[in-house]
Amino acid sequence: MAFDLVQLRSQFPILSRQVHGKPLVYLDNAASTQKPQCMLDALMHYYQHEHSNVHRGAHALADEATIAFEACRDALQTYLGAADRREVIFTKGTTEAMNLLAAGLGQSIKAGDTIVITALEHHANLVPWQQLCLAKGAQLRVVALNELGELDQQDYADALSQKPKIVSFAHVSNALGTVNPIADMARAAKAVGAWVVVDGAQGAAHGPLSLSQTDIDFYALSAHKLYGPTGLGVLWGRFNALDLLPPYQLGGEMIKSVSFEATEFNDLPYRLEAGTPNIADVVAFGAVVNWLLSLDWQALVAHEQELLTYATQQVQALGGFQIHGQAKHKVSVLSLSLPGVHPSDIGFLLDQQGVAIRTGSHCAEPLMQLLGLPGTARASFAIYNTLAEVDALVAALAKAKSMLLE
Ligand SMILES: Cc1ncc(COP(=O)(O)O)c(C=O)c1O
Repeated sequence: MAFDLVQLRSQFPILSRQVHGKPLVYLDNAASTQKPQCMLDALMHYYQHEHSNVHRGAHALADEATIAFEACRDALQTYLGAADRREVIFTKGTTEAMNLLAAGLGQSIKAGDTIVITALEHHANLVPWQQLCLAKGAQLRVVALNELGELDQQDYADALSQKPKIVSFAHVSNALGTVNPIADMARAAKAVGAWVVVDGAQGAAHGPLSLSQTDIDFYALSAHKLYGPTGLGVLWGRFNALDLLPPYQLGGEMIKSVSFEATEFNDLPYRLEAGTPNIADVVAFGAVVNWLLSLDWQALVAHEQELLTYATQQVQALGGFQIHGQAKHKVSVLSLSLPGVHPSDIGFLLDQQGVAIRTGSHCAEPLMQLLGLPGTARASFAIYNTLAEVDALVAALAKAKSMLLE
């Protein structure tokens, strides 16, 4: 292993706490990851030394806050592989980014148009498009899955033959762990003239991206799933695509000049960042992104795969549990069910043993309906998890199984 896992873990203070008298085994990373010390330090430093409002101050603190704030945009440009720093827009999260896109791209949608999504979308990449279609009389076309939980690429091709205006799909499924071939899918969607939107909430946490080298137009992520703060997200958009979007919210920061009669809107990125932004969390996220950029991602990706492969093998050996999502290209998520048992009972018993997982529909109710499940018990891994923690998960599952079934 080309990285020191003990050293990496030591940077996440929360991982050394106990829960119900047991060492915490945190396997709910798809819901939200834990935070490194560099983020906590940056947040504290910002409020202790640099806080002021950004972009419009006439004093030293305002300048320092602005420099710290904008440094995060630069770090994200590198992490995302963006061609231009103005392509990085701060939002509240993936959800807000998707609403911004549905509102903006939606203005040109007419009755009879088609918008394509897939069967494995999180509600954040479903409800905004569904409601847009309902409001405009457009059609929502949902791409089917195969039995492994992969997108049916033939059905995707069929959907594209309807010449959709917008195609929006997840990079990685939060419920099944399926990694979609986003570059290929974007190329095919672009070839029919669609706007290509990618929900990167789960995809962005597995290493730096090269978005400008793809045909993707927009990519959304949430900082809190990328070892960063809550309440903050990023919308990346190709400059020419972003520039066509109307303002999402109106007010301060997003204007150049205002009279009682009219307003001249600001340039990107500020035109899409109305009001005082979440300055402190952006500054703290900048520290996290720079830290992420310093890591050996080849080794970390291999480590995450080893955790998933080992966990899958151990759960299969345990018997009784069904694993949902067996895609050939899969990352970090192990979604389980025990026939006859409600997933929340599994979650409760695991919590008693210090093992934190997520249970339920994972904000993908239509997918659960398709699978005929009330939900799943989902363990999800991050770069700081260990094989010993997988052992703890499997031991806790074995105990839960014997209590629930025997
Ligand atoms: C695939 C996917 N998309 C979107 C979201 C929504 O993210 P947020 O709640 O941070 O806006 C999530 C969160 O779980 C997700 O997993």
